[in-house]
Amino acid sequence: MTHPPADPSLPALLQRMPKAELHIHIEGSLEPELIFRLAERNGVKLAYPSVEALRAAYAFTDLQSFLDIYYAGASVLLKEADFFEMAWAYFERAAADNVVHAELFFDPQTHTDRGVPIEAVIVGLTHACRRAHAEFGISAKLILCFLRHLSEEAAFATLEAALPYREHFIGVGLDSSERGHPPEKFSRVFARARELGLHVVAHAGEEGPAAYIETALDDLKVQRIDHGVRCVESPALVRRLAASRVPLTVCPLSNVKLCVFPTLAAHTLPQLLAAGLCVTINSDDPAYFGGYINTNFVETFAALPQLGRAHARQLALNSFEASFVDVAHKARWRAQLDAVIPADA
Ligand code: HPA
Ligand code: ZN
Repeated sequence: MTHPPADPSLPALLQRMPKAELHIHIEGSLEPELIFRLAERNGVKLAYPSVEALRAAYAFTDLQSFLDIYYAGASVLLKEADFFEMAWAYFERAAADNVVHAELFFDPQTHTDRGVPIEAVIVGLTHACRRAHAEFGISAKLILCFLRHLSEEAAFATLEAALPYREHFIGVGLDSSERGHPPEKFSRVFARARELGLHVVAHAGEEGPAAYIETALDDLKVQRIDHGVRCVESPALVRRLAASRVPLTVCPLSNVKLCVFPTLAAHTLPQLLAAGLCVTINSDDPAYFGGYINTNFVETFAALPQLGRAHARQLALNSFEASFVDVAHKARWRAQLDAVIPADA
């Protein structure tokens, strides 16, 4: 297939356009420099002698090889101020990338299992969210994720421990090692979360099969699927996702770094967009995967020349549609987008 010549103004438009980020693990925004600073401040011993040595270890072969290093990096987080600083550093980057709304995943069990009080985690992150709104006008929300390699009982205990801070998070999610830990393992805790009025999302179909996307929809009744790229293995599921507009929060650089796709050029994002799915572009764990949201946009469009400004506009619109905010906010962001990429682009 031939494509029109590359649009030289596209990278600047991708960077300038307002966008929502809906798939960012805040612990995955911890840059090596901050890991070392917090390790020193908190007296935590790291297995790597230097920032350079740590960064050199960021060569992943699959999800688990990443998670092992990601959990080691998070071990430097002990105090409320550490969680604040980590999230604040992310919001400075997000503001520079014209993120108008961010829904941040956090993994309480990664911290409470090391003896960190859940209060320090949630209060530190909440302060950063409030300041991001006050200083940058970013609306920022938190989504509490359960670690799926741990038990459903542990997930229940985490949800109960978080309830005193119920007003500080808008939903629950499911992350960590996917294979062998299907969504239905968490059916009852997700039912409880829905009863509490929380939004529900889950990672599915990143490394796990398309069947995990189906059980996330049917058993957990999720409102969005995180990743979900393996849906292409089931044409019926692709049709279902298109008809329902259940969003997929896709993370292109993550997918390449974790060997879900061999290259960005091989990513199926264009096919998913063409099939009418509500797909969005996100950074996942930007400190580990080579870039924040704008780098994901720019590199993905550079690798896939069939993507142009109409796709850029659609992806920004999808990010607003998929976000857990009221219609007034969505309308305001759409108007901001119109000023950067008009509807007839
Ligand atoms: N997949 C699953 N769990 C995670 C990820 C991911 O990409 N990032 C952080 N936790
Ligand atoms: Zn993720």
